[in-house]
Amino acid sequence: MTTPDRQSIPEHVAIIMDGNGRWANERGQSRTVGHRKGVESVRTIVRAAADAGVKYLTLFAFSSENWRRPEAEINDLFGLLKAFIRRDLAELHGQNVRIRVIGDRVALRSDILQLLLEAEETTKHNTALTLVIAFNYGSRDEIARAVASLARDVEIGLLKASAIDSQMIADRLDTAGMPDPDLIIRTSGEERLSNFLLWQAAYAELMFVPEYWPDFSRELFFAALERYAMRSRRFGGLSAAAVAMRS
Ligand code: FPP
Repeated sequence: MTTPDRQSIPEHVAIIMDGNGRWANERGQSRTVGHRKGVESVRTIVRAAADAGVKYLTLFAFSSENWRRPEAEINDLFGLLKAFIRRDLAELHGQNVRIRVIGDRVALRSDILQLLLEAEETTKHNTALTLVIAFNYGSRDEIARAVASLARDVEIGLLKASAIDSQMIADRLDTAGMPDPDLIIRTSGEERLSNFLLWQAAYAELMFVPEYWPDFSRELFFAALERYAMRSRRFGGLSAAAVAMRS
């Protein structure tokens, strides 16, 4: 399959990688096997996004609610992320990929935090694709941290409460400086955002695909980009056709 037409490529695609467990279950395998296969899809989609000319790819790897899972599965997911960074960092760096991590870092184990910081530091000047890994991420938590940081500035007299606007809040989110997602894809047929990029998703196109994450291929990703190109985005205004009808 050739890469989609560059003109209508979304600048920022965010993905809720769902269905690893069900994929494994349907094959009589452990959830671990599903997550491992999920990492292969991560590699495939990072490459496909870079080839298509997407500038930001955000992947929801571990949510602040995932702490409710059994300890063994949490350790498994942490281990997979560590292995991914260790094994793939050099190659990603070679592909000019910049890595950025969003989510609450305070609660993270020091070994994971160290690796993530190293990945960000090593790749910070890269310019092809920014791979944003949402790890220990939850949107409400992110917004609460941003608001607390503004409140602290008000408390010490650096800022007036009446001066706070939406740009100031956006500037304190983990995603500060990044464009909002144009397209959010969720795999596995579930149709919800599950506390992912709630602020940033204000005008995102949402796409729910039935395939489980381990089955999400380069072809399916390109097909999603093609579908995105057919959508008409109005950002609260009128479509070009509606404007033409009025004049
Ligand atoms: C959802 O499937 C997936 C996750 C909670 C984790 C996604 C993590 C990876 C693909 C691996 C590590 C990530 C990187 C970036 C290397 P689920 O377990 O909720 O599936 P289910 O809903 O079918 O049970």
